[in-house]
Amino acid sequence: MQKQVLFFLFLIFLISCQNTNKENSNQVFLNSVSDQLKVFAENIPDEKVPRSFDQESGYQMVGKNDWTSGFPAGTFWNLYEITGDDYLKEAAIKNTLKLEGIQFNSGTHDLGFMVYCSYGNAYRLTGNTDYKDVVIQASETLITRFNPVVGSIKSWDWSDKWQFPVIVDNMMNLEMLFWATKETGDSKFKDIAIAHANTTLKNHYRDDMSSVHVVDYDTITGDVLLKQTHQGLNDDSSWGRGQAWGLYGFTLCFRETEYPKYLDAAERIADYIISNLPADYVSYWDFSDPAIPETFRDASAAAITASALFELSQYSQKGKKYLEIANKITDSLSSEKYRAKQGENGGFILMHSVGNKPGNSEIDVAMNYADYYYVEALKRKFELLNKE
Ligand code: GLY
Repeated sequence: MQKQVLFFLFLIFLISCQNTNKENSNQVFLNSVSDQLKVFAENIPDEKVPRSFDQESGYQMVGKNDWTSGFPAGTFWNLYEITGDDYLKEAAIKNTLKLEGIQFNSGTHDLGFMVYCSYGNAYRLTGNTDYKDVVIQASETLITRFNPVVGSIKSWDWSDKWQFPVIVDNMMNLEMLFWATKETGDSKFKDIAIAHANTTLKNHYRDDMSSVHVVDYDTITGDVLLKQTHQGLNDDSSWGRGQAWGLYGFTLCFRETEYPKYLDAAERIADYIISNLPADYVSYWDFSDPAIPETFRDASAAAITASALFELSQYSQKGKKYLEIANKITDSLSSEKYRAKQGENGGFILMHSVGNKPGNSEIDVAMNYADYYYVEALKRKFELLNKE
């Protein structure tokens, strides 16, 4: 009997050692991600936002009206949330406040990315209502782009070749609208988000649940005029990041509405993506590129996919599988193949993303949105581990 008790105590001791080792290695890992982001913070000029970096041309800096302007602030906020590191909080505040005024920009559908990632996280983590007012104003501005005949929010204004282009990426901007209805009690934001999601589900998705990038609509009849790509290989191809945006978008639509059709869409998109992932689970820039495997990966698509799958794993009957893949993606992104060495890569965390290959722009570079969704994926991963 005494022997059994001793054995039992020894077992508890071994398990607690294992847990302590795991906690220590998580801490070492998070410290090294934070140290890298501090290098990044130190390289940010007061008035600009670092959008991408590559060894040859250095930083591409943008102004506050670029679609990527909210990601650095959001990355600092999320990592501050995981680590409690005040240096990151200061960087988050500074990089949020420099965006002042973007909430009135009605010329872009990307206000969700720009404002919800920055001011939205700022309000979530501080409760400061000055931040909240900015996000509500941004939601008011964003819905001015909604056309009830089309049933969608217009994406781009910059080309006459389309009447009313809607890109699959725009699913991401709906999260802010769902939030705005919860905060204000006004259902108009949520109604528009649902209409937009329904129209996207109807017209962007093919039978195999791959998505086209751009659908152009007739503003008088609401009919579909064209289905095209802008950043993918061709009109029939499956642009990697577009698939990830859709997965994330329908997952959040299910969270906010509990409509089974959104869960079903998210699961079928997830299954499509997973069936196209290579051995290291990091997406190709376009899943239809005939040059695969000799073509570029897109770490940003992988990070968005991982973050979405961590969330979807909590809603789906196939959650175990989605969790396993999300972990495999984050493990791969955290390896030296994709995660930059300390102090290198301009302080960006991840290497190897693709911005716009057909446009010959930002190919195989570090991108600020890859880091944002990577850190968000880590946050979701650690939240799930803490729940265990
Ligand atoms: N929304 C633009 C992109 O994903 O590149």
